[in-house]
Amino acid sequence: MKTDEDLLSLQDAMQLNRRDVRNIYKQYANPGLATMMGLINFDKKFVRAQGVSVWDDEGNEYLDFLGGYGALNFGHNHPQIIDAVQQAGELPNLLQASLGTLYAALAHNLSQITPGELCRSFFGNSGAEAVEGALKLARAASQKSKIIYCEGSFHGKTLGALSVTGKSKYQVPFKPLLPGCEAVPFGDLNALEAKLKNRDVAAFIIEPIQGEGGVHIPEQGYLRQVRDLCAQYETLLIFDEIQTGFARTGTIFACQ
Ligand SMILES: Cc1ncc(COP(=O)(O)O)c(C=O)c1O
Repeated sequence: MKTDEDLLSLQDAMQLNRRDVRNIYKQYANPGLATMMGLINFDKKFVRAQGVSVWDDEGNEYLDFLGGYGALNFGHNHPQIIDAVQQAGELPNLLQASLGTLYAALAHNLSQITPGELCRSFFGNSGAEAVEGALKLARAASQKSKIIYCEGSFHGKTLGALSVTGKSKYQVPFKPLLPGCEAVPFGDLNALEAKLKNRDVAAFIIEPIQGEGGVHIPEQGYLRQVRDLCAQYETLLIFDEIQTGFARTGTIFACQ
């Protein structure tokens, strides 16, 4: 029978050393990852992060070129972000039976910066969840079920998002996936038109610049023509801007 003594407190956790963390990973989390990180000497104990720098417990500084796969577009622990979190620190967190003040303010601000007439926001916990929301919304709004996506795309690893992710190494182990999802080559307008012309496609989902696929920038005018084809064949167009949005490519959203 386990007791409270067997649980690690926050203080215990902060004091775990490199070997403890590796052993706990091996026993309770992801043994393969722990072994791989050990082999390449990446299983260090990092104790501080600021901007692009992180420091290990021996005081060595490293530059983090991965930035959470682009999620950290302001770097680690940006002082204005930490300050904002602290200012909001006493607000209720999950109070389902209420309308959230910050939820409202964020939705308002997003509607000011999103292109065109986009004005409604749904907040999720991850990119994959946003993609799931978009796919479901497209099916519900169009009353159609087919989704077209691009070869080489990445939209996330939940079952729906994976069904429109054009990488067989991710899809194969989990087949059969969502029915009615078909791929076209990125940048190929003829292939897209061939799929759309029966007017039975709910949505075409695309990254304005493919990220995980290897940073593929489409030819000038491609996205405009995609927009026109989708309008012509009554197909909704979903831009997945998880990697390209929020000023990472020069405009606030890359589809602009
Ligand atoms: C374009 C794109 N869409 C969706 C996702 C999935 O996001 P998440 O890992 O937050 O689920 C990613 C993740 O890298 C992505 O690059």
